[in-house]
Amino acid sequence: MISPSRRNLVAGLSLCVILFLCLGIYAEAESSRVYIVYLGERQHEDPQVVVNSHHDLLTTIFGSKKAALESILYSYKHGFSGFAARLTETQARAIAELPEVVHVIPSQTHKLHTTRSWDYLGLHPGTPDSLLSTVNYGDGVIIGVIDTGIWPESQSFNDEGLGAVPSKWRGRCDGGELFNTSNCNNKIVGARFFAKGIIAKLGGVPLSLESKREYLSPRDANGHGTHTASTAAGSFVRNASFGGLGLGLARGGAPRARLAIYKACWGPGVCDAADMLAAFDSAIRDGVDIISVSVGTDQPPQPGYLDNQNDRSIGAFHAVARGITVVCSGGNAGPFPQKVTNGAPWIMTVAASTIDRSLPTAITLGNNRTLIGQSIYFGKGVGGQKSLVFSADIARDNADPSSSTSCDAGSLNSTLAKGKIVLCFTGANDPREQYLIAASTVFGAGGAGIIFAMHTINILIPFSLRPAVQVDYEIGTEILAYIKATRDPTTMISLTHDTIGKVVSPKVAYFSSRGPNSLSLDVLKPDIAAPGVNILAAGSGFKPFFFDSGTSMACPHVSAVAALLKSLHPHWSPAAIKSAIVTTASVTNRFGGPITAEGGPRKSADPFDFGGGHIDPNRAANPGLVYDMGVADYVQFLCSLGYSSSAISRLTVKATSCEARGSVSELNLPSITISGLKKNTTVSRTVTNVGPVRSTYRVKVEAPSGVRVSVEPQTLSFNNKAESLTFRVTFSPVHEIQGDFSFGSLTWMNGEHVVRIPLVTRVVIQDSYADIS
Ligand SMILES: *[C@@H]1O[C@H](CO)[C@@H](O)[C@H](O)[C@H]1NC(C)=O
Ligand SMILES: *[C@@H]1O[C@H](CO)[C@@H](O)[C@H](O)[C@H]1NC(C)=O
Ligand SMILES: *[C@@H]1O[C@H](CO)[C@@H](O)[C@H](O)[C@H]1NC(C)=O
Ligand SMILES: *[C@@H]1O[C@H](CO)[C@@H](O)[C@H](O)[C@H]1NC(C)=O
Ligand SMILES: *[C@@H]1O[C@H](CO)[C@@H](O)[C@H](O)[C@H]1NC(C)=O
Repeated sequence: MISPSRRNLVAGLSLCVILFLCLGIYAEAESSRVYIVYLGERQHEDPQVVVNSHHDLLTTIFGSKKAALESILYSYKHGFSGFAARLTETQARAIAELPEVVHVIPSQTHKLHTTRSWDYLGLHPGTPDSLLSTVNYGDGVIIGVIDTGIWPESQSFNDEGLGAVPSKWRGRCDGGELFNTSNCNNKIVGARFFAKGIIAKLGGVPLSLESKREYLSPRDANGHGTHTASTAAGSFVRNASFGGLGLGLARGGAPRARLAIYKACWGPGVCDAADMLAAFDSAIRDGVDIISVSVGTDQPPQPGYLDNQNDRSIGAFHAVARGITVVCSGGNAGPFPQKVTNGAPWIMTVAASTIDRSLPTAITLGNNRTLIGQSIYFGKGVGGQKSLVFSADIARDNADPSSSTSCDAGSLNSTLAKGKIVLCFTGANDPREQYLIAASTVFGAGGAGIIFAMHTINILIPFSLRPAVQVDYEIGTEILAYIKATRDPTTMISLTHDTIGKVVSPKVAYFSSRGPNSLSLDVLKPDIAAPGVNILAAGSGFKPFFFDSGTSMACPHVSAVAALLKSLHPHWSPAAIKSAIVTTASVTNRFGGPITAEGGPRKSADPFDFGGGHIDPNRAANPGLVYDMGVADYVQFLCSLGYSSSAISRLTVKATSCEARGSVSELNLPSITISGLKKNTTVSRTVTNVGPVRSTYRVKVEAPSGVRVSVEPQTLSFNNKAESLTFRVTFSPVHEIQGDFSFGSLTWMNGEHVVRIPLVTRVVIQDSYADIS
């Protein structure tokens, strides 16, 4: 008889297509793989006692202490208790049965998800009385960045004029390959790396695609970690640019905050859960104030917050319980609904938006008509008119016509493409991927340039040496008409110019992952939008500054603002910081019109696109009221999801139980979502006054369509005896229908402060509708 693991081996071998997959399945089938054994809150103050308890537990399973010690990769002992170890499936099952174990999960891997943006957000250096100058540019706050490490020689990490390392810092600077303790300074106060999980899985660390390197040290071979860290807390660097584009003063949002670097992502951006948890565990002990994590998965979220695949959720829970704000990217799986990741309510989940930078590139046709596209192109070889062709007219023999129209790999005849500028149109695929594929097809076939027509022109990928210009369909169609009507069509492409303030912005970026939060519909995600398109920030040695786009770039923008708020209000909880950011967010663009969302039919952005709206740091500094929460609230939330008391009691040292299973909608979030509204439903919220002690607020409601909303009381009067007040909101469906999601808002105003939260409802007839749709 074939045991289950033998059968896996057979299936695994036939599935073995690429090296990584092969190694992964092999490791699993060979009887042992890395599991994370999560024990919840640590049961003892002394980390050594916690470690010993891990060894004892494993010894009972292995029957020998030596074997137990050999199997263990990490003991998590600071922020929470648990360990990562190589186990067979049988051993893992035996451990899962032990009463002190919350759960045992196989360690999964995740993916990683550019300085105009700070001025754009209103954080101008040198402006008196602004948030930035009030908190001395974030001096003394420590931002922990879990990512691909750091390029310490980048000018963005110079510590000129910075005081000593803050005394609360308890972390380390670990040396390794091409990195030693002298690489840390008063800016990079600590740097560590965690690779045991990825090595156990792949047999080594994968290499970065661009640099073809990796370093067993905190040094960044990828550039992603350096980019995100410098976006959050880069020092002032004058005259930074990418080949002259975006030229200006580069800096992070909190330019005097300190950085603690935790490298847990390797090569092309692969992050193993065992390594991620080790990074969280260290960061919690080291005394960071904020943890910034631009990591996630573009796969649909796995169920549960404490179960499968949820290392970030677990790490973040224990961080938030200790007052550390955790900010994560929401993913780049947009514009389709329900793909947002990192959806735990204790995490601040970030969507990406465009800024007002544009990179116009002139396309002058042979008939002297000039059209404008977008590109990042500053190379040579522009001069004069070049032959222009439509890709479908130079298809390789037998190529499928649609594949040549979109310039798929191998679809073009290189004899005909050589030296020409080729016009292509996106097909049904993701336009970003298609743009990359098309450019490499055209350049691979010897083309001189590509004009690529797609329905959004905001996501630029730098092809700095040959022009790859994006145009919208209207311009693409005009160029095609010119080609069809002309005997020898030609065009000239000019160098890109960097322009600011000439485009409507912000817009929610095409790629930004959208809600609803498929893990719990009634926890609104994402929470907030921040700049994440064409962001210029520092890179690794081979590219000192570069443009990049993604929610990965948006996340450190919010981390920096959280750091400034933490500096201004040291006693605010992570929930209070999140509330301040969400309730003061902007829902209109610079021209007073609604913020729109790219990627669908032209529409105003709604809370599934950007949560509370677009971040407004200066307003967040003084929100008036906050929707606060603590561990007890998160525990009640887990109870309402049906976690057992025994699982939850291990999450916190204080005894907790799940006597009252409330509804998820009751969690004191700065938003209210009722996804299954069948009959009149009342939820309550509590707001805490953080403005003037005596203050009276009045409510204003914009009801979601098809729903009546009433608020009781309509006025909240705060004074020194009433710092926190509770109000009730009743939602009444107008018609009995199976509805769709609709959106509104609830705003408290006192003449000075405007405290706005989104309302999201879906009217249903059958109770089960919410579950089956
Ligand atoms: C490590 O430190 C030594 C002496 O402090 C220095 O000479 C060397 O260049 C450093 N290496 C790196 C990679 O910074
Ligand atoms: C600023 O950068 C540009 C482009 O890289 C360069 O040409 C120029 O000399 C620099 N100016 C200064 C003052 O460094
Ligand atoms: C385009 O403009 C150039 C210079 O302005 C002129 O010499 C040329 O004749 C024009 N071509 C057409 C087709 O109008
Ligand atoms: C490419 O085009 C040339 C010239 O029309 C033709 O001779 C050749 O067969 C084509 N090759 C392919 C692979 O389509
Ligand atoms: C629900 O609320 C509406 C007011 O919006 C009220 O007219 C109606 O009677 C309520 N229905 C029930 C069953 O309480």
